Amino acid sequence: MYYNWTEKTNTEELKIVCNLIRNGELVIFPTETVYGIGANALDENAVGKIFIAKGRPSDNPLIVHLADRRKIEEIAQDITEVERKLIDAFMPGPFTIILKRKPIVPDIVTAGLDTVAVRIPENVIARGIITFSGVPIAAPSANVSGKPSGTNIKDIRKELEGKVSVIVDGGETQIGLESTVVKVIDEVPVILRPGKVTPEDIEKVTGIVKIDKNIFGRISQNDIVESPGMKYRHYAPETSCKLIYCQDDLDQVFYLKKFVKEYQGNVVVIGFKEHEEKLLLDNERFISVGKKDDLESFAKNIYSALRKADEIRPREILIEGVKKEGLGYAIMNRLIRTCEHNFFEKQ
Ligand code: TXA
Ligand code: MG
Repeated sequence: MYYNWTEKTNTEELKIVCNLIRNGELVIFPTETVYGIGANALDENAVGKIFIAKGRPSDNPLIVHLADRRKIEEIAQDITEVERKLIDAFMPGPFTIILKRKPIVPDIVTAGLDTVAVRIPENVIARGIITFSGVPIAAPSANVSGKPSGTNIKDIRKELEGKVSVIVDGGETQIGLESTVVKVIDEVPVILRPGKVTPEDIEKVTGIVKIDKNIFGRISQNDIVESPGMKYRHYAPETSCKLIYCQDDLDQVFYLKKFVKEYQGNVVVIGFKEHEEKLLLDNERFISVGKKDDLESFAKNIYSALRKADEIRPREILIEGVKKEGLGYAIMNRLIRTCEHNFFEKQ
């Protein structure tokens, strides 16, 4: 089934969606970050279906979505003062916190860890579905494992049509990158996955913040990591991708041109509006993610740009990088994975 709630949530359909969730079915729904594939987090069989639909490795745990802060204690325990501060400051919002779990959360959700990832989305459709289902909802991003997350229904249908009971359309997601994931270790918030809530935002609340060393590092299957998701290929189309970042804009254009030539023009460039004319490519071979200083627009458009570029099947997708600060941190964390460290950088 497909429900279009882009204008307004339909309350009759909302009842149907919530019944399906309670009956162990899968529902694709929007959040302010990316779309999720949701199931009743307390129902092992239902959660099992998520792993099958996505082809997701079973050792990669899921985020449990709640409707409000008062529900946190139903699934997590021993919440510390620092964790409480973060919860009060950033939830609801594009923020996920790793807490000590309660036994009620099935092992399949947490991949057997003694922690559980908790998020309270701000998006009204998400909140409506969680509230009226009356159960916590486990939901990974709506995409086949390894691919970029789904940020609009057109992209999601191509990939997941027929694999879930209902798809709820809430339009394009506002942020476009997944939530910031934080775990407090020895009273210090550690960012395991950067997102819209930046290190600076967190530091203002807690006075201190760390960034996990694996965020920009290479990780192999046997490494021990704080977040299992770090180990896997991610955010990647089929086509090979190269990330290009020069601090100086003239260099940037120079090297973009150089790489375009190296692949005899058989490329798609995902880049800034300002560079479109300079590269003299056919229309379909340049996909703009917005203006150079507009990181929000970059974040919002990057995943669907990657899918669009992949459909053209060039030899290489060339992607312009950004400065690693603010939201740029999250953008570069994803792109380094997309490009599997195939990265040209000039400071
Ligand atoms: O914005 C988002 O967070 C979206 C929307 C749908 O809420 N969800 C999302 O879920 O991105 P997913 O499954 O694609 O990414 C969850 C990440 C994974 O990297 C996973 O390894 C990590 O969170 N994670 C989940 N539980 C964890 C835990 N207990 N400890 C450490 N990392 C955990
Ligand atoms: Mg994901």
